[in-house]
Amino acid sequence: MDLHNIRESYKFDSLLELNLESNPFDQFQYWYTSYAELRIKDSNAMAIATVDSQGIPSNRIVLLKAVENNEFIFFTNYRSAKAKDLLSNPMVSALFFWREQERQVRIQGRVVRITKEKSEAYFATRPYLSQIGAAASEQSQPITNRAALESKFSEFQNKFPEGSTVPMPEDWGGFAIQPISFEFWQGREGRLHDRIVYTLEGHEWTTSRLQP
Ligand SMILES: Cc1cc2nc3c(=O)[nH]c(=O)nc-3n(C[C@H](O)[C@H](O)[C@H](O)COP(=O)(O)O)c2cc1C
Repeated sequence: MDLHNIRESYKFDSLLELNLESNPFDQFQYWYTSYAELRIKDSNAMAIATVDSQGIPSNRIVLLKAVENNEFIFFTNYRSAKAKDLLSNPMVSALFFWREQERQVRIQGRVVRITKEKSEAYFATRPYLSQIGAAASEQSQPITNRAALESKFSEFQNKFPEGSTVPMPEDWGGFAIQPISFEFWQGREGRLHDRIVYTLEGHEWTTSRLQP
């Protein structure tokens, strides 16, 4: 497979200090809102990188469900591989790639569990089949075959028919990423991309520009 000839040029926008929000959450909101307006499927997808107890990294997509009180919230299974990684090392890297606007946002931060009440409130708003799916799946655990998975799913559907309340599984809930750094990347012509980093120093965010 030879991909040498794939070459893009970037002209969509610039990211200059004079237009920068002083707070990275405002900057994120500004960029995210403008991306969401494009109505691209899974515009709230982000890659979350964790490392396990042996220092081996893993990465996967999850959906960002809220940014509130300076925390980025996503939901998952607390016994999944990612949750196990987070137990041994709560530091994560989150990554957004917004191709159509030639933008990338990188976040580093510490993860904490959100309260059960908050997770339950969100679980209750999920569509029925997503609730059943969460209840039936021991995420990241092996299973013999697809049929076994579907039979577990049907079992839960019989136990909790549509219209009844599906209880939130014990092992399911939200994590909140508390950022310590952000990098906003805007593609530019001639590979002279803009890279602005926000770093938390005490309670203040400071910015610096990195070479592309
Ligand atoms: C578009 C997309 C959205 C996803 N959203 C979530 C999510 O919000 N939560 C989640 O646990 N997994 C989500 N997944 C599945 C994860 O990428 C991953 O397969 C799963 O969480 C198991 O990861 P782990 O074994 O590393 O814990 C999503 C996958 C894709 C491609």
